[in-house]
Amino acid sequence: MALKDSNIQKWIEGIPYELAFWNNVYRWKRPFDGLMKWSHYGDYVELESFDALQFLENHDNPMVLDVGAGMSYATGNYFRKNNEKTPLDIHYVDPLAPFFNRILKKYRKNLPQIDYGMMEYLSAFYTKHDVDLVIIQNALDHSSNPLKGIYEALDTLKIGGKLYLNHHPNEAETEHYKGFHQFNICEEDGKLTIWNKTERYDVASLLAGFAEVETAKAESGHVIAVITKTDGVPSNLTGDDGNGFLTEDMLKQTMKSLPFGKRLKMKFLYWKYNIIQFIIQGLPWDFRMKIKRLIKQA
Ligand SMILES: C[S@@+](CC[C@H](N)C(=O)[O-])C[C@H]1O[C@@H](n2cnc3c(N)ncnc32)[C@H](O)[C@@H]1O
Repeated sequence: MALKDSNIQKWIEGIPYELAFWNNVYRWKRPFDGLMKWSHYGDYVELESFDALQFLENHDNPMVLDVGAGMSYATGNYFRKNNEKTPLDIHYVDPLAPFFNRILKKYRKNLPQIDYGMMEYLSAFYTKHDVDLVIIQNALDHSSNPLKGIYEALDTLKIGGKLYLNHHPNEAETEHYKGFHQFNICEEDGKLTIWNKTERYDVASLLAGFAEVETAKAESGHVIAVITKTDGVPSNLTGDDGNGFLTEDMLKQTMKSLPFGKRLKMKFLYWKYNIIQFIIQGLPWDFRMKIKRLIKQA
């Protein structure tokens, strides 16, 4: 699955919505407090259908990456060592990190900085194959190349390390392939499947020989996969795939060098979503959930 220009283009067009969303969650007290109450920040790491605490307990000073972290700080940042609550070496990684860190500063939030990183190039940022656990929640299906994201995440792990995936099923179909949503993730007969209108992949068969996949559908309906690295990832599946290494500066330059019309469209979209999110995030949580349910029923 090579990176396609059209995928990258669509991915870039998804940025304004994402930024407007977080900007307004952080702007308003109620959604921000709601987010912090929901997240496990300040507490033990907790993942749906996977006992991360037990897994990490057996590791010395384990290193964890939360990739495509957004600004939710959903994952806890402590683990249990010798029965004591111990700070976890967790890194929040997202390609929109420069923008997110600006939002943290703007609203004076005392939360950890987010590291720049793109899952399709993750092994270029974490080069030592020494990560114990990579967590990707609601983000693999936002990337322009999820399969490469999986290979790269596995490459950063130690042998025996785990990649944890948690996603809403078939999100691109639900979102009509808008914004970042270009791929669906689902569980089919116990198999982790990634697909869109033109491509379909059975992940376990692609990873055979260097990783084992356990896939389940949780009670919440989420698709959960725990992938264990059993051997080194073949080098032809990782690294630069010919489209160039996307560094933070390159992403910024790409944004700047978009044609005038495209830049104007992006700015327009940002402000459109910013106004919509300004109103939505200002509404009471219960009322928003009612509207969401009504839209889903329609
Ligand atoms: C819906 S948010 C999920 C946030 C968080 N993981 C959660 O579950 O609350 C999706 C995040 O994925 C990030 N993302 C999109 N493409 C990515 C990529 N190629 N590599 C890493 N993260 C990506 C977006 O910037 C966004 O912050």
